[in-house]
Amino acid sequence: MATHKLLLLPGDGIGVEVMEEVKKIIAWLESKGVASFAIEEDLVGGAAFDDHGESISEGAMKKAHQADAIMFGAVGGPKWDKVPYDKRPEAGLLRLRKDLDLFANLRPALCYPALADSSSLKREIVEGLDILIVRELTGGVYFGEPKIIEELPDGQQRAIDTQVYTTNEIARIARVAFELARLRKNIVHSAEKNNVMKSGVLWKQVVTKVHAEEYSDVGLEHILADNCAMQLVRNPKQFDVLVTDNLFGDILSDAASMLTGSLGMLPSASLGAEKNGKRAAMYEPVHGSAPDIAGKGLANPIAEIASFGMALRYSLGLGDIADAVDRAISRVLDQGLRTRDIAALGEKTIGTSEMGNAVLAALQKEM
Ligand code: NAI
Ligand code: MG
Repeated sequence: MATHKLLLLPGDGIGVEVMEEVKKIIAWLESKGVASFAIEEDLVGGAAFDDHGESISEGAMKKAHQADAIMFGAVGGPKWDKVPYDKRPEAGLLRLRKDLDLFANLRPALCYPALADSSSLKREIVEGLDILIVRELTGGVYFGEPKIIEELPDGQQRAIDTQVYTTNEIARIARVAFELARLRKNIVHSAEKNNVMKSGVLWKQVVTKVHAEEYSDVGLEHILADNCAMQLVRNPKQFDVLVTDNLFGDILSDAASMLTGSLGMLPSASLGAEKNGKRAAMYEPVHGSAPDIAGKGLANPIAEIASFGMALRYSLGLGDIADAVDRAISRVLDQGLRTRDIAALGEKTIGTSEMGNAVLAALQKEM
């Protein structure tokens, strides 16, 4: 049996609390003999700064490069508000993304049937929803040069952001989307605005070419990003894998994820370039360190546990166990177990470790 190298970076606030629940699952999978892990753990964010004055150490970065997958919790909090910019907790996260070249951000929007009534949309529109948005994360208008505010002779100021994409940048994110589609429903939607943007024209051309040459077994539909936003709200279940650029992906993934309920339920992954047959990958909840509830045992651990499920599926080749984790989450929700963030008014709630224990108990029944 392959031993999977996992690096755990719990970080700050509730990151630490929700990671504990993932550790319970890892320990059980090992004791059951269904998977083997070599676990390392290190500091990131404010916790790292307090320990040694940097938001991530060189030692931790080295472990990150060696890991098959990184499980990240969350970083930040008011305690570090006055820390210099380059040492702030977020700098640790940005350094990981940059050094590992994590260009593909995977944001699932999943609607568990038991929570369909807490969506802002009607139950029949969102129940059973399962979309994976693949957002390009290291290029586009957030990074393109020039990026300036300049003074004009007439006394006005002018701001310029630049949307830039190269063929290679588009091709590699397209490949990620097609690969993922093969593990899912085998259909990719690609969103851009080729009607008004040159980068959209190139995007569509390159996605079409990669599809024809390497992935003709997968379905491909092109959609204009603004129409896509509309369709996500009108009939989201028409989508499975949706690939798009950094800017559109930021907006579409936030909109899609909120179709489905609480921040405490949302996992994510960031994948890097393939090197020597291995792809760098980091898995983390969408939520932050939640200083308002940190240390109180109230955090919902499901986003972190579902992120671990994604690691099993997309990095470790353990899709069967990932399926069981997903079913276990559904099962506890069906049983009516709720942390505070997903409870209806007046509903009885449980804490972080009780929720983690319940998911583990359900997983034990599923496997
Ligand atoms: P947040 O996601 O930490 O919290 C927003 C609200 O959602 C809070 O009321 C919080 O209690 C609640 N919440 C979040 N996760 C929850 C969970 N698992 N269970 C129950 N309730 C949950 O975002 P906020 O408040 O904007 O940021 C707090 C800190 O986290 C800041 O320092 C921010 O910079 C950092 N942050 C870090 C991120 C990361 O590490 N990737 C992402 C977002 C924010
Ligand atoms: Mg955003």
